[in-house]
Amino acid sequence: MVSKDLPFTKSQIEEIIEEHPTPFHIYDEAAIIKNAREMKEAFSILNGFKEFFAVKALPNPYILKILHEEGFGVDCSSLPELIMSEKAGITGEDVMFTSNNTPPEEFIKAKEMGAYINLDDITHIPVLEEVAGLPEIVCFRYNPGPLKTGNELIGKPEEAKYGFTREQLFEGYKILKEKDVKRFGIHTMVASNELNEDYFVETARILFEVIRDISKELDIKFEFVNLGGGIGIPYRPDQERVSYKKIAKGVKDAYDEILIGNGIAPLNIYFECGRVITGPYGYLVSKVRHIKKTYKNFVGLDSCMTNLMRPGIYGAYHHITVLGKENKSHDKKYDVTGSLCENNDKFAIDRMLPEIEKEDIIVIHDTGAHGFAMGFNYNGKLKSSELLLRPDGKVVEIRRAETVDDYFATLDFEKLKSFK
Ligand SMILES: Cc1ncc(COP(=O)(O)O)c(C=O)c1O
Repeated sequence: MVSKDLPFTKSQIEEIIEEHPTPFHIYDEAAIIKNAREMKEAFSILNGFKEFFAVKALPNPYILKILHEEGFGVDCSSLPELIMSEKAGITGEDVMFTSNNTPPEEFIKAKEMGAYINLDDITHIPVLEEVAGLPEIVCFRYNPGPLKTGNELIGKPEEAKYGFTREQLFEGYKILKEKDVKRFGIHTMVASNELNEDYFVETARILFEVIRDISKELDIKFEFVNLGGGIGIPYRPDQERVSYKKIAKGVKDAYDEILIGNGIAPLNIYFECGRVITGPYGYLVSKVRHIKKTYKNFVGLDSCMTNLMRPGIYGAYHHITVLGKENKSHDKKYDVTGSLCENNDKFAIDRMLPEIEKEDIIVIHDTGAHGFAMGFNYNGKLKSSELLLRPDGKVVEIRRAETVDDYFATLDFEKLKSFK
């Protein structure tokens, strides 16, 4: 029988539920730290390696603080993410700001925080200059277009709305040079949930080659290359973890050949991964509310797409454990559903599970990235709490659950009384 490990027992979770009602996401701090250290160790062979955790994957300031303690920066994509990072004590060049279709107030805040600003388009150079002034260091996002095939989740780079073309990069850096910018970065992000290490090595090669060509033609010196995020995780129990060492070795070989070989090194190597940093270490814990038998067998949980969108929107697989029934025969076929009036509000379709009863505790795995974060309030559904399982076994609530008052906070019912 295929299974996935859990960092807690059924009785521990029952105790936690007494204080924190389901549904909730719970994150395993010890595992997050262990993984962060493994990543740092493997990538330490790369010059100036640094990971900027993609805040969008798990936007919680406690998590940001833990990762910052481990030496990670953050990658922000919006004003609230910048403010959250600032509140977690993360500012300056510990912050990468990678946005697109960017409103002026975001450029202003990023500049004020001293963040690396990663521009998505050549037309943003004068906008940034006008609203905030050009910073000392500027980064551009490269879209390699037909040079890269793209992966299943992110699609073809040519179809993507992100980044500069190769020609625009040359023109853009020339403009920066003329405007007396002295420090330069370059970035790309062309993968999502990619498990093939070679994909990242190929991307690094493409970037290193473009760096070589621009450096020579414009006589500028790049300070860093940001290879983006997109490292995948084994959602399915039969999938393997990506080898950090293999990616690091491949990127180093490409660096040695293309950058050292052409006298362009040193430059720092950055990543902005989200999923691989926290994804496997989060669990959505729910209880079974109803069991329904019609043309199929349905298990209705007390959570829904608000808490985890990925299965509903991408058909993504998330492993499910019925706590206490791990060793029972998985011989019943169920659709595991939420309570939205949307038929794609299903965590699993035709999943073989043990016989399920009302009040069973269901754990949905790998919700530590793009899980809580993606939720919406459609159907008036409220977002859950987030808990942190600390290395000493204690549990801390790091975000309370939304209340009905939170949901109504943007409405003025007093004004409604006199509205005709
Ligand atoms: C610009 C950018 N950087 C980083 C990430 C993080 O990706 P992942 O969580 O797959 O590593 C994303 C994800 O959408 C992104 O858009």
